[in-house]
Amino acid sequence: MVSAEPFQSVAVVGPGAIGTTVAAALHEAGRTPLICGRTARDRLELSTDDGDVVVPGPVRTDPATLPGPVDLVLLAVKATQVEAATPWLTALCHEETVVCVLQNGVEQEAMVGPLVPGPVLPSVVWFPAQARPDGSVWLRAAPRLSVPDVPAAAIVVRAMLGTRCAIEAAADFRTLAWQKLLQNAVAGLMALSGRRGGMFRRDDVDELARAYLRECLAVARAEGADLPDAVAAEIVGRFRSGPPDMGTSILADREAGRALEWSVRNGVIRRLGRARAIPTPVSDVVVPLLAAASEGPG
Ligand SMILES: NC(=O)c1ccc[n+]([C@@H]2O[C@H](COP(=O)([O-])OP(=O)(O)OC[C@H]3O[C@@H](n4cnc5c(N)ncnc54)[C@H](OP(=O)(O)O)[C@@H]3O)[C@@H](O)[C@H]2O)c1
Repeated sequence: MVSAEPFQSVAVVGPGAIGTTVAAALHEAGRTPLICGRTARDRLELSTDDGDVVVPGPVRTDPATLPGPVDLVLLAVKATQVEAATPWLTALCHEETVVCVLQNGVEQEAMVGPLVPGPVLPSVVWFPAQARPDGSVWLRAAPRLSVPDVPAAAIVVRAMLGTRCAIEAAADFRTLAWQKLLQNAVAGLMALSGRRGGMFRRDDVDELARAYLRECLAVARAEGADLPDAVAAEIVGRFRSGPPDMGTSILADREAGRALEWSVRNGVIRRLGRARAIPTPVSDVVVPLLAAASEGPG
């Protein structure tokens, strides 16, 4: 692995499935990050097809114990956990600290921007990773990130250079982010049915997913994404032909009784659609049900 010197200081906030993967990639390249989490651990463990990677800890759980601000924060808590992670951001960020948000959704800058004094860099996380009950993480595919091609991207591109985590600075990041969001939105149907990817082999679910994606596409395009009609059929086709037991993190959260990322994955389509007077009849049913599944009452 390539080692880039001199290298700036990096912190990973939220060492779960995605946070552990990027921390391990950095550690393998000799750039071990500061690890900030909620659950105290001595180390992080990533299982990959080519062996296990152990990242030395500790996982810090108290922002008051930090040595001071860093140059780059990789924020990998769930969107539902950003507010609770604010004390970490306060302790880790000065005006030039870049906060790269490793989350699903297209509202990362809007959510995190008000919490930090410096630049916020959104990203698209393209790879699946799964946290196990013992805290170790199973990396399910080669890690890959996209970020917008803006000056703030330079530090994270340099950090990931030569690591197992590929990164691209994309000229049309908006389109990539919406493409991923459409995939996330339709996967939300699994959290409502309590079923895995095989459910998309039903013709009625296929029809519902296509109708949902048509309205998502209308909103995405109004927001500036350059996506063709064919993207809806591609997304449904991938779910339909994929492994029937393929899950999604919003289903895993539902099964575990955790808060759901319904607002950033599904609610956003309805919100932005309403703001632009675009009808969202499928969202009007799906979103309240996901919200209720996440938060109750009842
Ligand atoms: N996993 C995937 O395959 C995947 C793929 C693409 C995108 N994403 C997106 O990436 C984001 C992260 O997902 P994930 O799957 O990595 O979630 P995750 O495994 O649940 O990881 C979240 C981590 O944040 C920690 N955390 C929670 N609150 C915190 C706080 N206040 N301060 C510090 N750390 C805190 C959690 O600690 P505990 O250990 O105590 O819970 C956990 O380690 C989500 O937006 C998700 O949708 C995930």
